[in-house]
Amino acid sequence: MKIRVLPDYDALSETAAAVVAERLREKPSAVLLLPTGTTPLGMYRRLVALHRSGALSFARATFFNLDEYLGLPPDHPASYHVYMRENFYGLIDSDPARVHVPRGDALDPEAECLRYEAAIREAGGIDLCVLGIGRNGHIGFNEPGAPFVSRTRVVRLAESTRRVNAADFEADRSPERAITVGLATIFEAREVLLLASGANKAGAVAAAVVEGEVSENIPASVLRRHPKGTFLLDEDAGSDLGGGLAD
Ligand code: F6R
Repeated sequence: MKIRVLPDYDALSETAAAVVAERLREKPSAVLLLPTGTTPLGMYRRLVALHRSGALSFARATFFNLDEYLGLPPDHPASYHVYMRENFYGLIDSDPARVHVPRGDALDPEAECLRYEAAIREAGGIDLCVLGIGRNGHIGFNEPGAPFVSRTRVVRLAESTRRVNAADFEADRSPERAITVGLATIFEAREVLLLASGANKAGAVAAAVVEGEVSENIPASVLRRHPKGTFLLDEDAGSDLGGGLAD
């Protein structure tokens, strides 16, 4: 696992977009596993700009998203389907047949999870997984305590996660459950890039990267064992790491 500390959010976003662009130029048919949330917005903006300038095509790539709220149809304004359409997939030359987001409104959510996991396998596995990190150390919606061997499944969201995400929902009622790609599936990605920005992530980043043991209590700590994992941080997110670690 590597750690790179960039001066600020803009530099973080620029670097993340450059990594994604480079991997797609090396392998235009790459399979990507992608996050939603606030952190990756700058990266998506830059990737869209690269596409608009004619410098990058996504036409042959395959996309999977990490998670979706259980019960939300794909046109719900707080759904990750809408987020991804508005911030990325709808703004680039992605092939709709190769864009995958879990269906939160599936009649049989367990079957949907199996279908999603099989689709990742059939695509040949993930070449590059981009992640954010929750303040409690979650990745995807793998909350503290999630098994490292977990696959795509229905999970209960931590109360703290529900509070952070409540603003996106009417009367602050955010869903209690979600579908998430599991930790084993994330770990099997051939490359993982975790993005963290801001002082409110510093504690989670330190717990994931330097404090204590690798533990299911801090899901992101599993990435310490990843042969090609990188934590891409801005200075605020890296502020609890101490001096020696940044390159
Ligand atoms: C979202 C996801 C979550 C977020 C995390 C950080 O698809 O998988 O793990 O990456 O909650 O969210 P932000 O970037 O909004 O701080």
